[in-house]
Parts: sequence; structure tokens; C-alpha cells
Amino acid sequence: MTEPTPARRPAEPPADRPDYRVRRIEAGEWRELRALRLEALTDTPTAFSTSRAADEALPDGAWQAQAAAAATGASTALFVAVGRDGSWLGMAGAAPVPDVPDHAHVYSVYVTPAHRGRSGPAADLVTAAVGFARARIDVGHLTLGVHEANARAQSFYHRLGFVPTGLEVPYPLDPAERLRILGYPGFRAQGRSTE
Ligand SMILES: CC(C)(COP(=O)(O)OP(=O)(O)OC[C@H]1O[C@@H](n2cnc3c(N)ncnc32)[C@H](O)[C@@H]1OP(=O)(O)O)[C@@H](O)C(=O)NCCC(=O)NCCS
Repeated sequence: MTEPTPARRPAEPPADRPDYRVRRIEAGEWRELRALRLEALTDTPTAFSTSRAADEALPDGAWQAQAAAAATGASTALFVAVGRDGSWLGMAGAAPVPDVPDHAHVYSVYVTPAHRGRSGPAADLVTAAVGFARARIDVGHLTLGVHEANARAQSFYHRLGFVPTGLEVPYPLDPAERLRILGYPGFRAQGRSTE
């Protein structure tokens, strides 16, 4: 005797499926990069080391070059979170720290306000950037700089395993303010990648 056929129910996504996908930027996505960066600079000006006015004045070619480098660079990358409707919800990058040997950093971390919180893409974005740094950047140390007054970002990075190094540097847009340098002790916990 065969089992009765169960009534078909419409397909539903699993409850734990996120509403976004994290992936590396593509070379041609400079308009999206520009839009998200300008949004980020309006939302949290002290989160970045450039001003909105300066970035707004950049020619298209500069954005095209940034997007291409972040998409195809051997040791620099930007990851973006893309919603189901294709909109960009956030970003995080990884690259060597200019002028600081043996150090990489996580940079350009931003999530659009409606998608913040534990169910949003912030942790997945930073995890993607850390993973890239671990696999592709041949350095011993991973750091990031966070503005002294940015308590939410500090709390978020702490949850992910970043810790204060004790080092503070002047915030480039206002040297009277400070950037706290956080380190990531787990970066080379398993030694350097051979990839
Ligand atoms: C930083 C950022 C990417 C973090 O993403 P997020 O989705 O907000 O992160 P989460 O909500 O998962 O975590 C934030 C934590 O800060 C806590 N928090 C919120 N407001 C806070 C405040 N005013 N002071 C201290 N902690 C705060 C939250 O409770 C949460 O901790 P918990 O998960 O342990 O409860 C996001 O807030 C953002 O884009 N901010 C603007 C840009 C920015 O500051 N970028 C960082 C540049 S270094």
C-alpha cells in the first residue's frame, strides 16, 4: 500500500536564510560603490578617513579605478552585501596598511541603517574581509582603526574578536580626535596560508 500524497504547500525559504548575499564587488560596479560610499559618509562622517565633499568631487574615473582594484586586486578586496532585490546593504574591505610593513587592515565597514543588528550582514561582511586577508595578504597582523566616539562599532568589533592594541593615532580629518587601533589576535592562529 502506498502512502497518501501529502498536500503540497507553497515553497517557503527556510526561516534562517538571510535576506542578503555577501560577495566581492565586480569591476563595473563603480556607480553602486559611489552611492554606498556617499551614503556612508552622510550617515557616519567620522567612520571614514575621507570627507563627503572630497569623495563627491572625485571624477568617475577614480570610482572606476577603485571598483576595479577592489574587484580584481591580488591583495585588496571589497565585499558587499546585496539584498534579494539587488540593493546594496553594506560593505567591508581588506588591504595592506600603507607604509606599515607586515600589517593589513579591514576598512570601509558600513551597513545601511535598516539592516543593522545581529540578523544583518555586518558580521558576514567583516568575516569575508578577514578571510580574504588571511588567504591573500601575506602579512602577520590584521588591524583596523575606529573613531574614539564610535561606541557601536567598537562594541561590534569586540564581539567579532578584535581587541584594543593600546595604540591611538590622530583622526585624519581632525587631528584633535583619535582613532583607536584594534588588532585581531586570531588572524594567524593557524599560521600563514600557503594559498
Ligand atoms: C559598525 C557597523 C557596521 C556594525 O554593524 P551593526 O549591524 O550595527 O552591528 P551589530 O548590531 O551586530 O552590533 C553592534 C553592537 O553594538 C551595540 N551597540 C549599539 N549601540 C551602541 C552604543 N551606542 N554604544 C555601545 N554599544 C552599542 C549593540 O548592542 C551590538 O552589540 P550586541 O550585538 O552585543 O548587542 C554599523 O553599525 C555601521 O555601519 N555603522 C556606521 C558606519 C561605521 O561606524 N563603520 C565602522 C567604521 S570603523
